[in-house]
Amino acid sequence: MDKLYLDHAAATPPSAEALAAFNAAATDCYANPGSLHQAGADAARLIEKSRRKISNLLNASNYQLVFTATGTESNHLGIRGYAQDGRALVGAIEHPSSLNSVEARAGDSAVLPVTADGRIDVERYQALLSDDVKLISVQWVNNELGCIQPLRQLIQLARQLAPRAHFHVDAIQAAGKFVLHFDQLGADSYAVAAHKFGGIRGCAGFFYKKDGRAPEPTFVGGGHELGIRSGTENTMGIAAMAAALEQRQGMLLENSNFLHDSRQKLLKAITEQCDIELLGPQDETLTSGSIISFVMKGMRAEPFLHQLETHGIYIGSGSACNAHGHSESATLAAIGLKEEMRNSVLRISFSDSLSDALALRIATAMALTAAFFKD
Ligand SMILES: Cc1ncc(COP(=O)(O)O)c(C=O)c1O
Repeated sequence: MDKLYLDHAAATPPSAEALAAFNAAATDCYANPGSLHQAGADAARLIEKSRRKISNLLNASNYQLVFTATGTESNHLGIRGYAQDGRALVGAIEHPSSLNSVEARAGDSAVLPVTADGRIDVERYQALLSDDVKLISVQWVNNELGCIQPLRQLIQLARQLAPRAHFHVDAIQAAGKFVLHFDQLGADSYAVAAHKFGGIRGCAGFFYKKDGRAPEPTFVGGGHELGIRSGTENTMGIAAMAAALEQRQGMLLENSNFLHDSRQKLLKAITEQCDIELLGPQDETLTSGSIISFVMKGMRAEPFLHQLETHGIYIGSGSACNAHGHSESATLAAIGLKEEMRNSVLRISFSDSLSDALALRIATAMALTAAFFKD
């Protein structure tokens, strides 16, 4: 039976392009990029070429890209790297790496409430903005629900009503899913992670404005990456990250709607066969095309997904980023989902086109799984 891995919001499989770039760098550019000899210079050149490529692909000419190891680390740079104290505002359904980073600061903080579809409640956000706000951190796309936050509006309001705030955007679930334009959006910093768009785990990026303030490093050492992120650079992971993003961008430029087309096709097939309640925005334009989050009515998510595995299909429940996927999801509470439904939430996430046959296979396997538990 063919395995069908549909948990790309947790980790994407590395693309062929990323693996090839990783192998080439591991074979030819293994030297320490800090070494003075030719081999070191070759590795350093590959890093700079990859940095330029990633910045171009994300339309980030106004930003300095610093390579890190994880999305968590990049979010920490964007949050604790700027405002160790002062008032911070953080979205209620941010990833724990942002929520906990805000909590670990010395200053006070407030959580930005979201509406039932997971989007920031703009009116209540506006009421929280003031001159003493030093930091605002909001995701582009939510990892559990797939909703897209109204960032343009949020940033505009922050510039008017909280002019001293550093605005950090967690773009980890957005990069590679639609074409991003960091310059146009104009946030103060962004986080991305390679393993969400076909790169290899252990490589991520942090972007900050070239004409702005650099973050305080999370840890210090040999002064790599402009002193912001010490530690010998992950040349292979960086080369793979650039190759992966280039491949994703190529797919998006060829057909910017392929993920939404697949999502709608799959959703239709599932609703025809199963009793579900879709979570997140009902309007397709307000959600990422790569995530479907839903309540599988009358089912418990964990046994359901294990039974679905017997059909060769792997999906997620809630968010795998909570340690071992077992902790209570703050997101589901924040959107006001009834407590008795929270254990029935499943997430299907993908990065490629789904054929009609695949959509039917998934929906049929889900219906069979539901029948297994009902019988
Ligand atoms: C939106 C979002 N932010 C941050 C992270 C953390 O990234 P990492 O696991 O690379 O630390 C994740 C991981 O799933 C995520 O989905």
